Amino acid sequence: MSLKVGVFIVIEGIDGAGKTLHSKNLCLQLHRKGYLARYTAEPSGNVIGRLLRREFLNRRKAPPEVETLLFAADRFQHLRQEVMPTLRRGGIVVSDRYIYASIAYQGAQKVDIGWIRCVNNFAPKPDLAIYLDVPAEVAMSRIRRGRSVMERLEFEKRVREIYLKLVKDGELTYIDGDRPVEDVDKDIFNIAIETITKKHIAGT
Ligand code: TMP
Repeated sequence: MSLKVGVFIVIEGIDGAGKTLHSKNLCLQLHRKGYLARYTAEPSGNVIGRLLRREFLNRRKAPPEVETLLFAADRFQHLRQEVMPTLRRGGIVVSDRYIYASIAYQGAQKVDIGWIRCVNNFAPKPDLAIYLDVPAEVAMSRIRRGRSVMERLEFEKRVREIYLKLVKDGELTYIDGDRPVEDVDKDIFNIAIETITKKHIAGT
């Protein structure tokens, strides 16, 4: 079923928070209810996204400002090629990460958050942006890649602090991700349906 207007949903979290699993599960549940839902992710599968995954992410060897600009370029392409066409068809987009990841990850590397927002000012505000919260220690026990465990743990703690600040400021909606998968899925689904219904009624 396509809606009169598309709905843009974003799921954020630190590495290992389970956002990919829950984003995909949300799409499955929406399909079951008859909605047209599309899973997308940042970094995307387009040229800059692939470059970011291949060249930079594991060792973080580029200056964080350069990462910020590359993530913004990838976001522009992701929006133009994947998000907007689906929204225009009245579909629901579930994006695994968005601008909040740049604020949290590049912000944690001391890039000025005002500047991050500025270079991303083309990016529309989503209808719903969820922050899936898991303590950094729990998330790190789920993944072990790249840099030393201690260094990575400290970094993800800083990233989490920034995400929690965005929750406090009302930009992100908090969901406790440190619970059984089905419980987390249920909460995400309920809040997504609430958002879809509200937008559908408003018809905006
Ligand atoms: P993933 O684990 O969700 O595939 O994301 C890969 C990494 O990209 C993850 O460590 C977070 C990072 N990232 C940023 O640093 N800034 C961004 O803007 C985005 C979208 C991702």
